[in-house]
Amino acid sequence: LRDILLTLPGRKHRYRIILEPGLRRRLAEALAPLNLPPRIFLVADARVARLYGQEVTGALSAGGYRPEMLTVPPGERSKSWGMLKRLAQRLLALGADRACGVLALGGGVVGDLAGFLASIYLRGVPFVQIPTTLLAMVDASIGGKTAVNLPQGKNLLGTFHQPRLVAIDPEFLDTLPRRERLNGLAEILKAGFIRDPDLLTRLAALHTRLFQDPESLADIIFRAAEIKARVVAADEKEADLRRILNFGHTLGHALEQASGFSLPHGQAVAFGMIFALDLSVRLTGLPPDTARSGHQLIRNFGLAQTLPALDHDAILAALPQDKKRQDQDLVFVLLKDLGQPVIYRGAPLPLIAKLLGKMQEL
Ligand SMILES: NC(=O)c1ccc[n+]([C@@H]2O[C@H](COP(=O)([O-])OP(=O)(O)OC[C@H]3O[C@@H](n4cnc5c(N)ncnc54)[C@H](O)[C@@H]3O)[C@@H](O)[C@H]2O)c1
Repeated sequence: LRDILLTLPGRKHRYRIILEPGLRRRLAEALAPLNLPPRIFLVADARVARLYGQEVTGALSAGGYRPEMLTVPPGERSKSWGMLKRLAQRLLALGADRACGVLALGGGVVGDLAGFLASIYLRGVPFVQIPTTLLAMVDASIGGKTAVNLPQGKNLLGTFHQPRLVAIDPEFLDTLPRRERLNGLAEILKAGFIRDPDLLTRLAALHTRLFQDPESLADIIFRAAEIKARVVAADEKEADLRRILNFGHTLGHALEQASGFSLPHGQAVAFGMIFALDLSVRLTGLPPDTARSGHQLIRNFGLAQTLPALDHDAILAALPQDKKRQDQDLVFVLLKDLGQPVIYRGAPLPLIAKLLGKMQEL
């Protein structure tokens, strides 16, 4: 069992992130310290419910709980205001009261949706994250951000609502498709680049054997989760420290948007990291050899192979501008060296356009 106790500064709230292969069968034990009443409400998407619903509710029932499963269709479209309202009405119909626990069993979509629900249902009920995708294990389930989308854009409505527990069972990944694994892998690589060069060395050594080696996989998930947890604990509500988590995401988001979201998130972030490494060589003195081996590592995992043809102007237009300044400064997270990120303001647009062109030629 691997275990992190997270304390949020200036607040009484603390919670644990625990990781253990097979934990889904011992959830009742893991929940015991939270003193939740027997009636608990799981939210899952239909695919995860089909794969793991019976096993998880069976284990909870055997441990003395009376779990109810609420399902939503798989996919980003379920992160909607309408779905949030429907779930709240289901909870009411089932008689869920203020003490009840809401448990998200799934990827980031269900985590964001169920977290939002838990934060506003009867002004807030206890919430637990049971992430089933790699992305949710190392990123989305940690930090307390919840959200739903609006037609105008992603994550436009949301709250901060910290979970009471994050329970990670890496065995869920056995059924996760490769494309989904890559989304999480990009975030693990990111954690290494910004905070833990040793993690990168280990990933390079494991290479594609990562998913065949449960012990190393558990270790790597734990370290990446811990990096996110430490950064957000030090900076719960998005000031400069939390910004380092955007490494690779500035350009990544612009690429996703310019592709009309057909480019998967992990691939977009991977290209964004390749680009940030190049920009770091030019602006913050990252040694060129380090950038090259970073590129290699990312590509060896099957990420950032060839960038689809995208309109350059659309990419540049989608880059965020620093709202605190009047001029056209672009803000990037760059590296001075591995594990040494800097928030760089004022990257010149012509250089960005040039490096973008170079990346598209590969
Ligand atoms: N709150 C945060 O801090 C935060 C951070 C990053 C991302 N996010 C959000 O996370 C979402 C993306 O999350 P995601 O990538 O986990 O996507 P997801 O939740 O849609 O899951 C991806 C797919 O995998 C399936 N799946 C899940 N677990 C499985 C398993 N064990 N075996 C087989 N299939 C499984 C799901 O049914 C779904 O089809 C986005 O909405 C994003 O905005 C939130």
